[in-house]
Amino acid sequence: MRVLVTGGAGYIGSETVRLLTSRGHEPVVLDTLERGHRAAVDGAPLIVGSVADAGLVESTLRDHRIEAVIHFAALKSVEASFVDPAGYFGTNVGGSFALLGAMGRAGVPALVYSSSCAVYGTPSDLPVRETSELRPENPYGETKLLVERALRWFDGAGIRSISLRYFNAAGAALDGRHGEDWTDAPNLVPVVIKAALGRGPAVRILGSDYPTADGTAIRDYVHVADLAEAHLLAVEALAGGLASTTVNLGTGQGSSVREVIEAVGAAAGRPVPVIEAPRRTGDPAAIWADPDRAQATLGWSARHRLDAIVETAWRWHSTHPDGYPS
Ligand SMILES: NC(=O)c1ccc[n+]([C@@H]2O[C@H](COP(=O)([O-])OP(=O)(O)OC[C@H]3O[C@@H](n4cnc5c(N)ncnc54)[C@H](O)[C@@H]3O)[C@@H](O)[C@H]2O)c1
Repeated sequence: MRVLVTGGAGYIGSETVRLLTSRGHEPVVLDTLERGHRAAVDGAPLIVGSVADAGLVESTLRDHRIEAVIHFAALKSVEASFVDPAGYFGTNVGGSFALLGAMGRAGVPALVYSSSCAVYGTPSDLPVRETSELRPENPYGETKLLVERALRWFDGAGIRSISLRYFNAAGAALDGRHGEDWTDAPNLVPVVIKAALGRGPAVRILGSDYPTADGTAIRDYVHVADLAEAHLLAVEALAGGLASTTVNLGTGQGSSVREVIEAVGAAAGRPVPVIEAPRRTGDPAAIWADPDRAQATLGWSARHRLDAIVETAWRWHSTHPDGYPS
Protein backbone atom coordinates (compact mmCIF):
# COMPACT_ATOMS: atom_id res chain seq x y z
CA MET A 1 0.00 0.00 0.00
CA ARG A 2 1.20 3.56 -0.71
CA VAL A 3 1.01 5.39 2.62
CA LEU A 4 1.71 9.04 3.41
CA VAL A 5 3.37 9.25 6.84
CA THR A 6 3.21 12.78 8.23
CA GLY A 7 5.85 13.36 10.90
CA GLY A 8 7.60 10.27 9.55
CA ALA A 9 11.07 11.66 10.35
CA GLY A 10 10.24 11.79 14.08
CA TYR A 11 10.63 9.22 16.82
CA ILE A 12 7.57 6.98 16.39
CA GLY A 13 6.95 7.91 12.75
CA SER A 14 10.39 6.86 11.53
CA GLU A 15 10.13 3.51 13.32
CA THR A 16 6.79 2.99 11.56
CA VAL A 17 8.23 3.99 8.17
CA ARG A 18 10.93 1.33 8.43
CA LEU A 19 8.41 -1.30 9.46
CA LEU A 20 6.08 -0.40 6.59
CA THR A 21 8.95 -0.70 4.12
CA SER A 22 10.12 -4.02 5.56
CA ARG A 23 6.57 -5.43 5.16
CA GLY A 24 6.33 -4.45 1.50
CA HIS A 25 4.42 -1.16 1.76
CA GLU A 26 5.55 2.09 0.14
CA PRO A 27 5.69 4.93 2.70
CA VAL A 28 6.18 8.55 1.63
CA VAL A 29 7.22 10.92 4.41
CA LEU A 30 6.03 14.52 4.86
CA ASP A 31 7.88 16.31 7.66
CA THR A 32 9.03 19.85 8.37
CA LEU A 33 12.17 18.37 10.02
CA GLU A 34 11.70 20.87 12.86
CA ARG A 35 11.87 17.91 15.27
CA GLY A 36 12.62 15.04 12.89
CA HIS A 37 15.76 13.89 11.10
CA ARG A 38 16.51 13.07 7.50
CA ALA A 39 18.78 10.23 8.63
CA ALA A 40 15.90 8.61 10.52
CA VAL A 41 13.86 8.11 7.35
CA ASP A 42 16.22 5.46 5.97
CA GLY A 43 15.67 5.95 2.25
CA ALA A 44 11.89 6.43 2.01
CA PRO A 45 10.89 9.42 -0.17
CA LEU A 46 10.93 12.54 2.04
CA ILE A 47 9.02 15.73 1.28
CA VAL A 48 10.11 18.58 3.52
CA GLY A 49 7.03 20.66 4.30
CA SER A 50 4.08 21.13 6.62
CA VAL A 51 0.76 19.34 6.88
CA ALA A 52 -0.71 22.81 7.20
CA ASP A 53 0.26 23.46 3.56
CA ALA A 54 -2.93 22.03 2.05
CA GLY A 55 -1.74 22.55 -1.54
CA LEU A 56 1.50 20.67 -0.91
CA VAL A 57 -0.35 17.85 0.86
CA GLU A 58 -2.92 17.51 -1.93
CA SER A 59 -0.28 17.40 -4.68
CA THR A 60 1.75 14.88 -2.65
CA LEU A 61 -1.31 12.65 -2.24
CA ARG A 62 -2.05 12.83 -5.97
CA ASP A 63 1.54 12.57 -7.27
CA HIS A 64 2.30 9.48 -5.15
CA ARG A 65 -1.18 7.97 -5.62
CA ILE A 66 -1.49 7.64 -1.85
CA GLU A 67 -4.04 5.12 -0.54
CA ALA A 68 -3.92 5.88 3.21
CA VAL A 69 -2.38 8.38 5.63
CA ILE A 70 -0.73 7.85 9.02
CA HIS A 71 -0.75 11.23 10.75
CA PHE A 72 2.00 11.63 13.38
CA ALA A 73 2.96 15.25 12.67
CA ALA A 74 2.28 17.32 15.78
CA LEU A 75 3.83 19.24 18.62
CA LYS A 76 3.90 17.02 21.70
CA SER A 77 5.21 18.79 24.80
CA VAL A 78 2.61 19.15 27.55
CA GLU A 79 4.65 21.91 29.23
CA ALA A 80 5.15 23.89 26.00
CA SER A 81 1.45 23.63 25.19
CA PHE A 82 0.65 25.80 28.22
CA VAL A 83 3.12 28.44 27.05
CA ASP A 84 2.04 28.43 23.40
CA PRO A 85 -1.55 27.18 23.11
CA ALA A 86 -2.04 29.01 19.80
CA GLY A 87 0.94 27.19 18.29
CA TYR A 88 -0.35 23.85 19.58
CA PHE A 89 -3.93 24.34 18.37
CA GLY A 90 -2.62 25.71 15.07
CA THR A 91 -0.27 22.81 14.32
CA ASN A 92 -2.16 19.93 15.90
CA VAL A 93 -5.74 20.91 15.07
CA GLY A 94 -5.34 23.33 12.14
CA GLY A 95 -2.73 21.07 10.53
CA SER A 96 -5.00 18.03 10.90
CA PHE A 97 -7.91 19.83 9.21
CA ALA A 98 -5.70 21.00 6.34
CA LEU A 99 -4.64 17.37 5.90
CA LEU A 100 -8.22 16.07 6.05
CA GLY A 101 -9.35 18.66 3.50
CA ALA A 102 -6.58 17.60 1.12
CA MET A 103 -7.45 13.92 1.65
CA GLY A 104 -11.07 14.64 0.79
CA ARG A 105 -10.15 16.47 -2.41
CA ALA A 106 -7.67 13.78 -3.46
CA GLY A 107 -10.07 10.94 -2.56
CA VAL A 108 -7.86 9.26 0.07
CA PRO A 109 -10.25 7.22 2.26
CA ALA A 110 -8.26 6.11 5.33
CA LEU A 111 -6.45 7.82 8.22
CA VAL A 112 -4.55 6.45 11.22
CA TYR A 113 -4.35 9.22 13.78
CA SER A 114 -1.79 9.63 16.61
CA SER A 115 -3.77 10.39 19.71
CA SER A 116 -2.68 10.15 23.33
CA CYS A 117 -3.71 8.99 26.79
CA ALA A 118 -3.58 12.74 27.58
CA VAL A 119 -7.22 12.82 26.37
CA TYR A 120 -8.23 11.05 29.62
CA GLY A 121 -6.65 13.44 32.12
CA THR A 122 -6.71 11.96 35.62
CA PRO A 123 -8.65 8.70 35.36
CA SER A 124 -11.22 7.87 38.02
CA ASP A 125 -10.87 4.12 37.40
CA LEU A 126 -8.08 1.80 36.32
CA PRO A 127 -7.35 0.35 33.87
CA VAL A 128 -8.29 3.14 31.50
CA ARG A 129 -10.76 2.02 28.86
CA GLU A 130 -11.64 3.75 25.59
CA THR A 131 -15.05 4.41 27.16
CA SER A 132 -13.53 6.14 30.21
CA GLU A 133 -14.32 9.80 30.73
CA LEU A 134 -12.39 12.23 28.51
CA ARG A 135 -11.11 15.19 30.53
CA PRO A 136 -7.81 16.51 29.15
CA GLU A 137 -5.92 18.66 31.65
CA ASN A 138 -3.59 20.47 29.28
CA PRO A 139 -3.82 22.20 25.88
CA TYR A 140 -1.87 19.35 24.23
CA GLY A 141 -4.43 16.72 25.31
CA GLU A 142 -7.28 19.03 24.25
CA THR A 143 -5.81 19.33 20.72
CA LYS A 144 -5.73 15.53 20.43
CA LEU A 145 -9.31 15.18 21.64
CA LEU A 146 -10.65 17.91 19.34
CA VAL A 147 -9.30 16.12 16.27
CA GLU A 148 -10.54 12.72 17.51
CA ARG A 149 -14.03 14.17 18.01
CA ALA A 150 -14.04 15.80 14.59
CA LEU A 151 -12.93 12.61 12.85
CA ARG A 152 -16.25 10.84 13.34
CA TRP A 153 -17.90 13.47 11.11
CA PHE A 154 -15.53 12.58 8.28
CA ASP A 155 -16.98 9.05 7.91
CA GLY A 156 -19.87 10.57 5.98
CA ALA A 157 -17.36 12.43 3.80
CA GLY A 158 -15.63 9.20 2.81
CA ILE A 159 -12.69 9.13 5.28
CA ARG A 160 -12.60 6.27 7.82
CA SER A 161 -10.14 6.60 10.69
CA ILE A 162 -8.56 4.85 13.63
CA SER A 163 -7.41 7.04 16.52
CA LEU A 164 -4.61 5.35 18.44
CA ARG A 165 -4.30 6.59 22.02
CA TYR A 166 -0.71 5.86 22.98
CA PHE A 167 0.30 5.61 26.57
CA ASN A 168 3.99 6.41 27.30
CA ALA A 169 6.08 5.72 24.20
CA ALA A 170 9.61 4.60 25.07
CA GLY A 171 12.51 2.44 23.92
CA ALA A 172 14.50 2.40 20.69
CA ALA A 173 14.76 0.26 17.56
CA LEU A 174 15.50 -3.38 18.34
CA ASP A 175 18.47 -3.34 15.92
CA GLY A 176 20.03 -0.39 17.80
CA ARG A 177 20.15 1.85 14.70
CA HIS A 178 17.39 4.32 15.57
CA GLY A 179 15.95 6.01 18.62
CA GLU A 180 14.58 9.14 20.18
CA ASP A 181 16.12 12.58 19.81
CA TRP A 182 16.54 13.49 23.45
CA THR A 183 17.56 17.12 22.85
CA ASP A 184 14.64 18.31 24.94
CA ALA A 185 12.62 15.14 25.47
CA PRO A 186 11.03 15.50 28.91
CA ASN A 187 10.01 11.82 29.08
CA LEU A 188 11.24 9.75 31.99
CA VAL A 189 13.29 7.07 30.20
CA PRO A 190 15.58 9.47 28.27
CA VAL A 191 15.87 11.77 31.30
CA VAL A 192 17.03 8.86 33.50
CA ILE A 193 19.47 7.60 30.87
CA LYS A 194 20.90 11.11 30.45
CA ALA A 195 21.51 11.27 34.21
CA ALA A 196 23.08 7.79 34.20
CA LEU A 197 25.45 8.81 31.40
CA GLY A 198 26.38 12.04 33.18
CA ARG A 199 24.88 14.04 30.29
CA GLY A 200 22.07 15.50 32.36
CA PRO A 201 21.30 16.49 35.94
CA ALA A 202 20.21 14.07 38.66
CA VAL A 203 16.70 12.73 38.08
CA ARG A 204 14.07 14.69 40.01
CA ILE A 205 11.56 12.19 41.39
CA LEU A 206 8.42 14.32 41.38
CA GLY A 207 6.58 12.85 44.33
CA SER A 208 7.53 9.88 46.48
CA ASP A 209 4.40 9.96 48.63
CA TYR A 210 1.85 8.67 46.13
CA PRO A 211 -0.45 5.84 47.27
CA THR A 212 1.57 3.29 45.23
CA ALA A 213 3.76 0.42 46.44
CA ASP A 214 7.01 2.44 46.36
CA GLY A 215 5.42 5.90 46.62
CA THR A 216 6.28 6.99 43.07
CA ALA A 217 3.94 7.53 40.12
CA ILE A 218 3.01 4.65 37.82
CA ARG A 219 2.75 4.85 34.03
CA ASP A 220 2.21 2.38 31.19
CA TYR A 221 5.40 2.37 29.06
CA VAL A 222 4.91 0.96 25.57
CA HIS A 223 7.80 0.08 23.28
CA VAL A 224 8.16 2.11 20.08
CA ALA A 225 8.50 -1.11 18.04
CA ASP A 226 5.12 -2.26 19.38
CA LEU A 227 3.61 1.12 18.48
CA ALA A 228 4.95 0.82 14.93
CA GLU A 229 3.38 -2.64 14.63
CA ALA A 230 0.02 -1.25 15.77
CA HIS A 231 0.12 1.42 13.02
CA LEU A 232 0.86 -1.20 10.39
CA LEU A 233 -2.07 -3.33 11.60
CA ALA A 234 -4.34 -0.27 11.76
CA VAL A 235 -3.63 0.87 8.22
CA GLU A 236 -4.12 -2.68 6.93
CA ALA A 237 -7.36 -3.02 8.92
CA LEU A 238 -8.76 0.17 7.38
CA ALA A 239 -7.85 -1.12 3.92
CA GLY A 240 -9.72 -4.30 4.82
CA GLY A 241 -12.86 -2.27 5.60
CA LEU A 242 -12.71 -1.82 9.40
CA ALA A 243 -15.11 0.87 10.60
CA SER A 244 -13.76 3.96 12.33
CA THR A 245 -12.76 3.39 15.93
CA THR A 246 -10.57 4.52 18.81
CA VAL A 247 -8.03 2.20 20.40
CA ASN A 248 -5.75 2.36 23.44
CA LEU A 249 -2.13 1.34 22.86
CA GLY A 250 -0.61 0.28 26.16
CA THR A 251 0.71 -2.85 27.79
CA GLY A 252 -1.95 -3.06 30.47
CA GLN A 253 0.77 -2.91 33.15
CA GLY A 254 2.25 0.05 34.95
CA SER A 255 5.82 0.67 36.08
CA SER A 256 6.77 3.12 38.80
CA VAL A 257 9.32 5.91 38.48
CA ARG A 258 11.61 4.01 40.86
CA GLU A 259 11.31 0.82 38.79
CA VAL A 260 12.40 2.74 35.69
CA ILE A 261 15.34 4.27 37.57
CA GLU A 262 16.41 0.86 38.90
CA ALA A 263 16.17 -0.73 35.46
CA VAL A 264 18.38 1.99 33.97
CA GLY A 265 20.83 1.64 36.88
CA ALA A 266 21.05 -2.09 36.15
CA ALA A 267 21.72 -1.42 32.43
CA ALA A 268 24.33 1.22 33.32
CA GLY A 269 25.99 -0.93 36.00
CA ARG A 270 25.84 1.94 38.50
CA PRO A 271 23.18 3.76 40.50
CA VAL A 272 21.45 6.73 38.84
CA PRO A 273 21.72 10.02 40.79
CA VAL A 274 18.29 11.18 41.99
CA ILE A 275 16.76 14.06 43.94
CA GLU A 276 13.41 13.68 45.67
CA ALA A 277 11.12 16.60 44.83
CA PRO A 278 7.45 17.44 45.52
CA ARG A 279 4.63 16.16 43.31
CA ARG A 280 3.76 18.18 40.22
CA THR A 281 0.21 19.56 40.16
CA GLY A 282 -2.10 17.54 37.95
CA ASP A 283 0.06 14.38 37.75
CA PRO A 284 -2.09 11.31 38.43
CA ALA A 285 -0.68 8.72 40.86
CA ALA A 286 -1.16 5.90 38.38
CA ILE A 287 -2.42 5.35 34.86
CA TRP A 288 -2.35 2.28 32.69
CA ALA A 289 -4.37 1.08 29.74
CA ASP A 290 -6.90 -1.62 29.22
CA PRO A 291 -5.48 -2.93 25.92
CA ASP A 292 -8.29 -5.41 25.15
CA ARG A 293 -9.87 -3.43 22.31
CA ALA A 294 -6.54 -3.28 20.46
CA GLN A 295 -6.39 -7.08 20.63
CA ALA A 296 -10.01 -7.49 19.58
CA THR A 297 -10.02 -5.02 16.67
CA LEU A 298 -6.42 -5.07 15.41
CA GLY A 299 -5.05 -8.34 16.80
CA TRP A 300 -2.40 -6.22 18.55
CA SER A 301 -0.83 -6.61 21.94
CA ALA A 302 2.44 -5.22 23.24
CA ARG A 303 5.24 -7.78 23.05
CA HIS A 304 7.90 -5.81 24.92
CA ARG A 305 8.04 -4.79 28.56
CA LEU A 306 10.14 -2.41 30.66
CA ASP A 307 13.33 -4.52 30.46
CA ALA A 308 13.35 -4.37 26.63
CA ILE A 309 12.42 -0.67 26.67
CA VAL A 310 15.35 0.21 28.90
CA GLU A 311 17.79 -2.15 27.18
CA THR A 312 17.08 -0.74 23.68
CA ALA A 313 16.96 2.89 24.84
CA TRP A 314 20.20 2.44 26.76
CA ARG A 315 21.91 0.91 23.71
CA TRP A 316 20.72 3.75 21.45
CA HIS A 317 21.56 6.68 23.74
CA SER A 318 24.87 5.31 24.98
CA THR A 319 26.08 4.70 21.42
CA HIS A 320 24.48 7.88 19.97
CA PRO A 321 24.75 10.45 22.78
CA ASP A 322 24.46 13.27 20.24
CA GLY A 323 21.52 11.67 18.43
CA TYR A 324 21.33 11.79 14.64
CA PRO A 325 23.90 13.71 12.61
CA SER A 326 22.50 17.14 11.76
N1 LIG B 1 6.13 10.17 22.28
C1 LIG B 1 5.05 9.92 23.04
O1 LIG B 1 5.18 9.46 24.20
C2 LIG B 1 3.67 10.15 22.50
C3 LIG B 1 2.57 9.75 23.30
C4 LIG B 1 1.29 9.97 22.81
C5 LIG B 1 1.09 10.53 21.56
N2 LIG B 1 2.17 10.91 20.81
C6 LIG B 1 1.92 11.51 19.49
O2 LIG B 1 2.61 10.74 18.52
C7 LIG B 1 3.02 11.56 17.43
C8 LIG B 1 4.49 11.37 17.16
O3 LIG B 1 5.22 11.62 18.35
P1 LIG B 1 6.81 11.48 18.41
O4 LIG B 1 7.14 11.12 19.80
O5 LIG B 1 7.29 10.63 17.29
O6 LIG B 1 7.21 13.01 18.19
P2 LIG B 1 8.38 13.67 17.29
O7 LIG B 1 8.46 15.09 17.70
O8 LIG B 1 9.61 12.85 17.35
O9 LIG B 1 7.77 13.54 15.83
C9 LIG B 1 6.85 14.49 15.29
C10 LIG B 1 7.33 14.81 13.89
O10 LIG B 1 6.38 15.71 13.29
C11 LIG B 1 7.12 16.70 12.59
N3 LIG B 1 6.25 17.87 12.48
C12 LIG B 1 5.85 18.73 13.46
N4 LIG B 1 5.01 19.65 12.95
C13 LIG B 1 4.83 19.34 11.64
C14 LIG B 1 4.05 19.89 10.60
N5 LIG B 1 3.26 20.96 10.79
N6 LIG B 1 4.10 19.29 9.38
C15 LIG B 1 4.88 18.21 9.15
N7 LIG B 1 5.66 17.66 10.10
C16 LIG B 1 5.62 18.21 11.33
C17 LIG B 1 8.37 16.93 13.41
O11 LIG B 1 9.42 17.51 12.66
C18 LIG B 1 8.69 15.51 13.87
O12 LIG B 1 9.53 14.85 12.97
C19 LIG B 1 2.62 12.99 17.82
O13 LIG B 1 1.39 13.28 17.21
C20 LIG B 1 2.47 12.91 19.33
O14 LIG B 1 1.57 13.87 19.80
C21 LIG B 1 3.46 10.72 21.24
